[in-house]
Amino acid sequence: MTYNKKTVEDIDVKGKRVLVRCDFNVPMKDGVITNDNRIVGALPTIKYLIENGARVILCSHMGRPKGEFKSEYSLAPVAKKLSEYLGKEVVMAKDVVGEDAKAKAAALEDGDVLMIENVRFHKEETDNDPAFAKELASMADIFVNDAFGTAHRAHASTAGVADYLPAVCGYLIKKEISIMGEALENPKRPFVAILGGAKVSDKIGVINNLIDKVDMLIIGGGMAYTFFKALGNDVGTSICEYDKVDLARELVAKAREKGVSFLLPVDNVVGREYKEDTPFMRIYSDSIPDGWMGLDIGKTTQELFAKSIIGAGTVIWNGPMGVSEWKNFAAGTEAVAEAVANSGAISIIGGGDSAAAVAKLGYSDRMTHVSTGGGASLEFLEGLELPGIACLQDK
Ligand code: 3PG
Repeated sequence: MTYNKKTVEDIDVKGKRVLVRCDFNVPMKDGVITNDNRIVGALPTIKYLIENGARVILCSHMGRPKGEFKSEYSLAPVAKKLSEYLGKEVVMAKDVVGEDAKAKAAALEDGDVLMIENVRFHKEETDNDPAFAKELASMADIFVNDAFGTAHRAHASTAGVADYLPAVCGYLIKKEISIMGEALENPKRPFVAILGGAKVSDKIGVINNLIDKVDMLIIGGGMAYTFFKALGNDVGTSICEYDKVDLARELVAKAREKGVSFLLPVDNVVGREYKEDTPFMRIYSDSIPDGWMGLDIGKTTQELFAKSIIGAGTVIWNGPMGVSEWKNFAAGTEAVAEAVANSGAISIIGGGDSAAAVAKLGYSDRMTHVSTGGGASLEFLEGLELPGIACLQDK
């Protein structure tokens, strides 16, 4: 899917009330933001609007409060963090489209910034209710969508509102779609995709779309075991989607037909049970014993994958190679992160776990792009239309 959408630079924002949809759905622990990539990602658009005299009204969801006010899902900590980054106050409204938000929006002067509360405090948000979208729109003159992470959702604040206001994209959406779009449409070759994660069923569309574009597909993580089964191997108690085994076989055949190298792990770290401190050992992929489950790729596979990544022109990586949050099963994901960082390739990281591994190892700055989208980046790689982008004005 290629987009050529108008951006904030294509519309006059001076003195206008601009409703900006961001994805401030950031991880929090005990009220503290533990990763602020999405906040940092939104800064260029917000700064541009401030510098160009717009009256900025920020909105976002946080978590899934299911249409009720729940203080733990308030955006107040995000407003505070943003104030620090911007060096100016971000006024926090107590509600979304209530009296407080409307009064504060009306009182904005040029260059001021307001944050309204979590749009998902209203169930009409996820229902994409037109009356709610209209109400949101009534506070502003222009809509800017910069919430790439939520662009795959057709909700009132991501898509519905564009029916009532001139709608353009911000810099973050522009950056995400141009870097990933370029990789898909015009990749520097060899083009290598590395896919991991637990389930084949989550990534079927992505694998199908990427097989038509890449030179090499590397599969790790839990989903490798469905492919092993398809190739006739025993997988012990490893996670395996038995109803997807035929499909896995077809995908391998499709890759072969297209001349795409298809790499699976040759060895694995297997554990007795799905537990952090379970006993573990390394074993070749064709000899996983009964009663053992694959929880990471093995050392030989790490080296094989790293060697294959090193000469790449473009690498897209989405999904961990094992249970990367457990120290005994994190080495595979970390080895891939290191290989991608050292590859010299155009490197694009999507998905929370791979992005977290890259950040933990301090490699984020060595990647060309770490996407702020999980589900959204997968749907983009799958070639699906994203409603939060499709609704914006074309150039
Ligand atoms: C995400 O974290 O992937 C986005 O913020 C979307 O959140 P959602 O899956 O709750 O819609």
